[in-house]
Amino acid sequence: METERPPFETQVQPFGADAISAAAALIAQGQCVAVPTETVYGLAADATDGKAVAGIYTAKGRPSFNPLIVHVPDLAAAERIAIFSPVARDLAGRLWPGPLTLVLPLRPESGIASLATAGLQTIALRVPAHPAMQALLAACGKPLAAPSANASGSISPTSAAHVLKSLGGRIPAIIDAGRTSLGLESTIVAVAEDGTLRLLRPGPIDLGLALSDTGAIEAPGQLASHYAPAKPLRLNVTKAGPDEWLIGFGEVQGDATLSGGGDPAEAAANLFDALHTAEDSEKPRIAVAPILARGLGIAINDRLSRAAA
Ligand code: TXA
Ligand code: MG
Repeated sequence: METERPPFETQVQPFGADAISAAAALIAQGQCVAVPTETVYGLAADATDGKAVAGIYTAKGRPSFNPLIVHVPDLAAAERIAIFSPVARDLAGRLWPGPLTLVLPLRPESGIASLATAGLQTIALRVPAHPAMQALLAACGKPLAAPSANASGSISPTSAAHVLKSLGGRIPAIIDAGRTSLGLESTIVAVAEDGTLRLLRPGPIDLGLALSDTGAIEAPGQLASHYAPAKPLRLNVTKAGPDEWLIGFGEVQGDATLSGGGDPAEAAANLFDALHTAEDSEKPRIAVAPILARGLGIAINDRLSRAAA
């Protein structure tokens, strides 16, 4: 994917008060910053800001949207975002902070950008143990979406040098706290409302669960649980039929627009909300205007073609 933003002169700063306040200021501006956790370095942005989350995808050059892990400082913050069953609360109480991610039902009033969850009604949450990520969460006062801080298709970074090699020039800053202690992404467990557990990704914490065959984490873009609208979807439409709700882009206005100015980052931020709105409309079908297949437009088209399939 091409970059849509001017290249950055990536600053690598040692972990400390200055690095954290500089990083928090960038995140408040809607930028993303690489920060160590105990597992791998993450590329963090404000999870409540859809355009900031879109910036993660731009920086990683990820050709499709998959739901991201949202990091919070503690269980209380997590409970404001997701619904915890007694089983989930027990796991969190024993294993947070640490390398465990819980997939839980999302609270409708969570304020999390729909791009962060790829439109799902569930959310992956983690309370990291690393002091740098904890300091950044405290300084930002926002939940932080953070996938591994590497370009799409390359290996996960366990040092600032790895991040620089992969994303140098594509992000404004890297907080350097040396090598990560675990070097492997967190264990992901989905907790159903009835307390049933499914292992979606093996990791540093072993709960004695077998990998769930419905997890399909190896091909995240094909996650069975991916949001798909319940109505037929037609792509590359410039003029909708009378029974179609048209999602516009750029010059194609539609019933709602992803981005009137044709901005792919804005369109990505609005994508899943627009699909939900279309699904809730009185029209039995959904049509979507052509999206230029450049930059984030490639990921948008990937997601739309899956939704239309
Ligand atoms: O160790 C880690 O977990 C690192 C550090 C930076 O915290 N983060 C990380 O994040 O690996 P990420 O966003 O790359 O991991 C996302 C994984 C994907 O495999 C995705 O499919 C799964 O989490 N996931 C996220 N939300 C989900 C959901 N609602 N349901 C099922 N799987 C979900
Ligand atoms: Mg990754």
